[in-house]
Formats: sequence, C-alpha cells, structure tokens
Amino acid sequence: MEKNIVISLGGSLVSTDSLNIKYIQQFSSVLSKSPQQMKFGIVVGGGMLARTYIRALRDAGVNDNILDEIGINATRMNALALSSFLEDSNSKIPTTVNDAAELSRIYRFTVMGGTEPGHTTDTVAMLLAERIGARVLINATSVDGVYTSDPRKDRSARKLETLDYDSAIKIAISESVGAGPNVFMDLTALNIAKRSGIKVHVVDGRDTELISEIIRGSGKGGSVIS
Ligand code: UTP
Repeated sequence: MEKNIVISLGGSLVSTDSLNIKYIQQFSSVLSKSPQQMKFGIVVGGGMLARTYIRALRDAGVNDNILDEIGINATRMNALALSSFLEDSNSKIPTTVNDAAELSRIYRFTVMGGTEPGHTTDTVAMLLAERIGARVLINATSVDGVYTSDPRKDRSARKLETLDYDSAIKIAISESVGAGPNVFMDLTALNIAKRSGIKVHVVDGRDTELISEIIRGSGKGGSVIS
C-alpha cells in the first residue's frame, strides 16, 4: 500500500448546479476510512462555479489571465468546502505547491485548488505528487478512463486498462484539438508524470467505491498510466 497519494478531484464532481454536498460527504467518508498511516494531497477543480464565471466574463471581453485568476478562486472555494468535511485537514487553502508540501507534514489531508494562470488543477496535483514524493496519483474525473479515440464520436473506441506515458500523451494531444471539458488529463500533467514515473489512475470520480479500492491498492477499473 502507498503511504502518500495525491488525488486530482475534478471540479465537475463537487460544483454542479450548486455545491454537491452529497458527493463531498461521500468522498470525504472514503478518505476518512482509509488506512490511518496514509496521507493525501487533494487538489480540487473549479467545476460549474468556475465555468459560469469564466463564460460570463469572457463574453464581456475580459482577458484570459484574469479569467484564469477567476477560475483559481473558484477552485479554492471548492477546496475550502471539501476541507471543512475532513478531520485533520488544513482550513487555510495554500496558494503554492511549496506551501501545500509544508502543510502535508502537519495534516493527514492537505487540500488545495489552483496556483497560477496558465494550467489546470491536474498539473497542480501532479506537481504536488512530485514534490511530496507520491508514487500514485488518482485522477477522479468525469470520464471513466482513457479511450483509443473519443467514444462520443467513434463507435469503435476502446477503453485501455493500461497504457504507457507516451501513448497517453499522444491520445491527449489528439483529444485536445477542439477539446471540450472531457479530456482525461491535462498534457502538462502527463509530461510531469512521465519524467517522475508517477503512476496515474484515471477513474470516474462518481465511483467512490473504486477510489476506495485503489487507495487500498486493489482497485480494478478505469485506466492506469505508467
Ligand atoms: P480546472 O480546469 O482545473 O477545474 O480549473 P475543473 O473544474 O476540474 O476542470 P474540468 O472539469 O476538468 O474541465 C478551473 C479553471 O481555473 C483556472 C483555469 O482557467 C481552469 O480552466 N486555473 C486552475 C488556473 O488558471 N490555474 C490553476 O492552477 C488552476
């Protein structure tokens, strides 16, 4: 079993039409029941909260750097919401990976959102994993794995149970052309995973049972990139 695990928690799980308290409770309960000796970094995305603000401000002509700052603030609101359901977690959301790494020495659960413009919380999560020496990152997202091609457009698309970093990077590049919100993981994050050999589980975040199994080292489901 791993000692440290980082989870990139897709914002769309936490922030839907409103704040999804039921999901937050379910997810925190899985973490709270994990083996006591384990520590977690959890990086929460912006979800609908970020998207609503970004869309409105983009339509009003606001520049991308400020839109990213808005998105970052949304991720931090979601992070704070989650941390309030976790015992032994930080109640002040760190703004850098450096500060999060310091907090992870104190708390069993270190919760954060984004850091600076130009990337997503997947990248922040991967940087945190690299920094604290976590060998495993769970990407709890809105898709249930990595497919050979987009299953919404291609009926012959197959889910890959395992794949190597270069194959994942190749698929992420082809998916990111004209991408919607359903790319399985941000390209920068995948490159960091590759350079440090961090194993990535891509799972449907709604399946908290599967997340619980992966934490215990036994989960089968989703896709594993290594
Ligand atoms: P994410 O795109 O990471 O959140 O951050 P998400 O909701 O999980 O994304 P989906 O559901 O996978 O699409 C929301 C926005 O916040 C900004 C970006 O604009 C991003 O789109 N952001 C986030 C940053 O600029 N820097 C960060 O470090 C994190």
